[in-house]
Amino acid sequence: MSTCETTFASYAAFIPDFDAFCTALRTPRTCCLRVNTLRTTPAVVQALLASQGYHVTPSPLAEELLLVEQLPHPGRLREAYLGYYHPQALTSALVSLSLAPQPGELVCDLCAAPGSKTSHMAQLMRNQGVIVANEPAHERLFMLEYNLKHLGISNVITTRYTGQNFPLRCKFARVLVDAPCSGEGNYRWDRQGRLRRVRYAVSPLEDLPRLQKQLLVRGYDLLAPGGSLLYATCTYNPAENEAVVQALLEQRPATLQPITLPVQHSPGLQQWQEYTYDERMQLCWRLYPHQTGSVGFFLASIRA
Ligand SMILES: C[S@@+](CC[C@H](N)C(=O)[O-])C[C@H]1O[C@@H](n2cnc3c(N)ncnc32)[C@H](O)[C@@H]1O
Repeated sequence: MSTCETTFASYAAFIPDFDAFCTALRTPRTCCLRVNTLRTTPAVVQALLASQGYHVTPSPLAEELLLVEQLPHPGRLREAYLGYYHPQALTSALVSLSLAPQPGELVCDLCAAPGSKTSHMAQLMRNQGVIVANEPAHERLFMLEYNLKHLGISNVITTRYTGQNFPLRCKFARVLVDAPCSGEGNYRWDRQGRLRRVRYAVSPLEDLPRLQKQLLVRGYDLLAPGGSLLYATCTYNPAENEAVVQALLEQRPATLQPITLPVQHSPGLQQWQEYTYDERMQLCWRLYPHQTGSVGFFLASIRA
């Protein structure tokens, strides 16, 4: 049977406190809800859940994030059906918070389904401006459109291009490339020691780093001068993270910029196996479960 120690052995050299990392992957996580501020307020949701006996703590990170103990099926509560909240991992919510889209802006979400981050951006933009949410997989586009409607979002246009071929006809103030990836950040082991992972929306035969590099370059080419791009994955694999950002830095005059949220993180790598990465890579964020209590993520904030 696979264990965290064997599955991630090749990462032990760069994951800080690898034992604590593996312990975190065997420990149940606190549920995170993102309150849909287009429909209600965090205080209302907190009171509604507290009246049902749940222990709810507001996250210090953002007022719309609530942490709820012992809530294994957050999608089944009445408040979820009402669109009062969207269950979303804390680190996943950091993606839209880092990109920080503003009301009235033109934003592109290049890999959008099922819409957790599109809908978060829409609420940060107070339903003002336009988000072009792109998703090539037909059945996932359906989920995206369902979620947007359910959450009362009215500033999103959906498209169905392969992101690497997204038309270059207009330029965006902000672009999100939440790339298809191997999803290692979601791996966990249950009490019986079985690996639990979210089945992912890409073929195992897909050359992910190649696709990710193409998506990131296209995302960059869609930026208006001075615009901001966020590249995100939920994997630890440097070939899908630093190597992808490195390829962009070699092909385009992109600037890496600091991410300024108060969250414990590790810097991007400058060395992995035989590869050396640009020293600016330390501005990227590696988010590990034992540091955040949430799923693993990689973030790179880029300016045109
Ligand atoms: C990590 S998921 C996106 C999650 C989404 N941003 C959210 O927060 O709900 C990556 C998405 O990229 C889509 N995808 C796969 N190949 C793609 C391509 N060539 N161009 C754009 N998107 C692609 C997948 O179908 C999947 O829905």
